[in-house]
Amino acid sequence: MSGPLVLGIETSCDETGVAVVEGFEVRSSVLASQTEIHARFGGVVPEVAARAHVEAIRPLVHQALAEAEIYSDQLDAIAATRGPGLIGALMVGFAFGKSLAWSLGKPFYGIDHMEGHLFAPRLEFEAYRPPVVVLLASGGHSQIVYMRDWGVYETLGSTIDDAAGEAFDKLARFLGLGYPGGPAIDIASEEGDPAAFAFPRALRDRPFDFSFSGLKTSVVTRLERAKAEGTLPSRADVAASIQEAIVDVLVDKTFNAVEETGSPAVAGGGGVLANRRLRHRLAEEAENRGVELFLPSPAYCTDNGAMVAAVGVRRTEEGVLPDPLESDVDPGMVLGA
Ligand code: KG4
Ligand code: ZN
Repeated sequence: MSGPLVLGIETSCDETGVAVVEGFEVRSSVLASQTEIHARFGGVVPEVAARAHVEAIRPLVHQALAEAEIYSDQLDAIAATRGPGLIGALMVGFAFGKSLAWSLGKPFYGIDHMEGHLFAPRLEFEAYRPPVVVLLASGGHSQIVYMRDWGVYETLGSTIDDAAGEAFDKLARFLGLGYPGGPAIDIASEEGDPAAFAFPRALRDRPFDFSFSGLKTSVVTRLERAKAEGTLPSRADVAASIQEAIVDVLVDKTFNAVEETGSPAVAGGGGVLANRRLRHRLAEEAENRGVELFLPSPAYCTDNGAMVAAVGVRRTEEGVLPDPLESDVDPGMVLGA
């Protein structure tokens, strides 16, 4: 192994993620998930998330260093998510990273969470490099980014209302499948018929943008009508049809972008990319078109510290000036802005 040794800290939402990455090789990556804490509220409660990060961060940093079998003074840099995300949650990891960097006399880098997702495939695929079209879909974001070069990002399209993960979460709650909704719908769909209901595929006329709020309305209306008629459609059929509608749109628009840019490769990031049907459809479509596909393992699709460290590795290799200690979190951070 070679390359800079970087500690990455991610606390933008409901997962405390810490990792040690050397070059782009993961030496350790640990996570304290808050899913169970938030499940009883049916979604992430920002204040609760911040408090849980405070409790988790210190032992997790120790665990990441111990599993990587290094001492903190061997680190070349420390990187932490600067934004976008929940302000209180971001502040915990960012302040911890800055303090640790200051006490060790090491460089500190504040990282864009979405750039982290763009770098995540590099942790597992040495061949991953720009130019590449990347589908980013999570609970907070859905966008298609064309990465022309490392650090050169063009957002081709994004959601005009709900994020794809948000649509999964809201619809799962409506179906009584619990939280988080994506994995629940993924599992419930196994037994269902994806063609049972023709839910809408929105924004056909805008090649790279998404809209998921109409889908929600359509599902609610359809089920209420069924209830009024005294019929009870199979929950698995409804789940599979919802999943197919979301996946169809994500796949179509991603490959619209591949066509438009002539990109030789496609990749993905964000929690929704853990969806099995989406992964299958992306693989199928990439093969049909002779385009290379770089899909991280589910653990590197969802939020993690390693993707943040990976961007820190790149900053270190490029000799980018570290961020000053006065720098602060940016909850509304926009990729490439
Ligand atoms: O990237 P992520 O871990 O956190 C955010 O930055 O939001 O993504 C979480 C989102 C949630 O909305 C969750 O329901 C969704 O990713 N998700 C999935 C699956 N696993 C997680 N959506 C569909 N299928 C899955 N298997
Ligand atoms: Zn994310």
